[in-house]
Amino acid sequence: MERSRNGRTTQTRNGAIPVEGRAKQRAYIVAALESGDDLSELRELLATAGVAVVGQAVQHRDKPHPNTYLGPGKLLEVKDAAKAADANVIVVDDELSARQERNMEKEVGISIVDRTATILDIFAAHANTAEGKLQVELAQLEYNLARMRGLWTHLERLGGVSSGGFATRGPGESQIETDRRLARDRIAALRRRLEQVKGTRAIQRAERERAHLPQVALAGYTNAGKSTLLNAMTGSDVGVRDRLFHTLDPTTRQLSIDGRPYLLTDTVGFIRKLPHQLVDAFGATLEETRLADLVLHVVDASADEDDRQEMLRAVEDTLEEIGAGDRPRLLVLNKVDVLDADEREALGHRHPDGIQVSALSGDGIDDLHVAIEHAFARTLESVELLLPYSEGGRLAELHDVAGDLHREDTAEGVHVVARLPTAIAERYARFAV
Ligand code: GTP
Repeated sequence: MERSRNGRTTQTRNGAIPVEGRAKQRAYIVAALESGDDLSELRELLATAGVAVVGQAVQHRDKPHPNTYLGPGKLLEVKDAAKAADANVIVVDDELSARQERNMEKEVGISIVDRTATILDIFAAHANTAEGKLQVELAQLEYNLARMRGLWTHLERLGGVSSGGFATRGPGESQIETDRRLARDRIAALRRRLEQVKGTRAIQRAERERAHLPQVALAGYTNAGKSTLLNAMTGSDVGVRDRLFHTLDPTTRQLSIDGRPYLLTDTVGFIRKLPHQLVDAFGATLEETRLADLVLHVVDASADEDDRQEMLRAVEDTLEEIGAGDRPRLLVLNKVDVLDADEREALGHRHPDGIQVSALSGDGIDDLHVAIEHAFARTLESVELLLPYSEGGRLAELHDVAGDLHREDTAEGVHVVARLPTAIAERYARFAV
C-alpha cells in the first residue's frame, strides 16, 4: 500500500514500494473490538487495493490502547504471527493516532497502515476526473500533515529517506517546520484549485436546474449496486465492478418515467468510519445528494440483518453529516434475486416502505419507477405563472414536468396554471402571479 505525502509520489514509509508491487503486499490484519471478530469488510477493502491478506487477529477490549492500539501482550503475539505468515505490512481496522502508529511499528518492526490510509489509497487509485484527483490529494495531504512529526522520527531512524517529494535536510525541528509549511502551501493551492473546479460544477448544475427537471440521487453503502441500478433504470452503461468504491465521480443520466424526464445521479459509495478527510474533500461531489429532490437510499438486501442495519445506519449518518438528512428519501432494497420467497417476505415485514428490486434481473424496477413518480406526485401543488414571451423555452420545459397544464396567451406573456411537484415549483417561484 502506498502512502503518498503529496498525492503525486507514492512511497511507503519504510522505503519505496512501487505501485506495481501492490499485489506482492502481504497484510496481516488486526482490530480491537468490543465483541465479534468480523473483519470481512477490511478484507474487501484490501482486495480492492490489491493487497493479499495472510492472517488476522482480534483483541476484545472496551477501547483501543492509547499508546499501542492493541495491548502489549497481544502486540507480541501479532508480531510472531505476522512473521510466521511472512507478512510485510500490518493493517489496522481503525484510524490510528500518530503515536499509536509509531509505537506499534517500533514494537513489531514492520510497517503499519491504518483503515483511513487504506481507504485514501483506494480513492487515489480510483479518482478519474480532475476534481476527484484534487479531492483525494487534499485528503491525503491533510491526513499526512497531522502525522508529520511521527513520520519524521521514523525517517530519522531509517537515516533520512527522502519521502513524498519533499526534500529532506538533516534531522531536526526546522525540517519538520519546512515540511509542514510546504504541505500547508500545497493544501492552500489545492483548495484554490478546487474552488475553481467547484465553480464550473456550480455552473453545470445551474444549467441542469434551468432544465427544471426533478433531480434524483442514488446514495448507499459501497457495493450496494447503485451503478448497476442506474444502468437498469436508464438503460445506460456505467462501469460496474465487484470492487469497493468503483464510483468516485458522480454520473448523471436522464431517466424517463411515463414520458416524464428526471435526472438520476449516481454518487460515491458510503462506508462505516468514512475518513472525515474524505467527507470534507468530497463535499462538492456529495453536494449532488444534498441538492437532490429525492434520494434513493440503495441497500444490499442480500446482506445479513446485522450488516444491513449497520450499513443503513452508516449511510444515514453520512447523509446527516453532509447536510442531506432532510431530503425526501425512498429505501431501495436491492439484490433480492439472491433471496428466496420467505426471505423476501421477511424483508417486506422489516422494511414495509422499502421497494424490493434486483438491478441485475430487472425485477421490481417498474415498481421503483412508480414509487418515484408517486413521491413527486405526492407533493404536487397548483401554481399560477406568468411567463414572459422571451422565456419561451420554459414553457416547453413546463410541458415536460407538469401535470394538467393550462395556458392562455395574454398581452404580458403566457399565463399558465399547472400542477407541479414542490421541488420544481420552487424553481419557478419568480414567475408566480
Ligand atoms: P460503489 O461504486 O462501490 O459505490 O458500488 P455500487 O453501489 O455502485 O455497486 P455496483 O453497481 O458497482 O455493484 C456492486 C456489485 O454488486 C457488482 O458485482 C454487481 O454486479 C452486484 N449487483 C448489483 N446489483 C445486483 C443485484 O440486483 N443482484 C445481484 N445478485 N448482484 C448485484
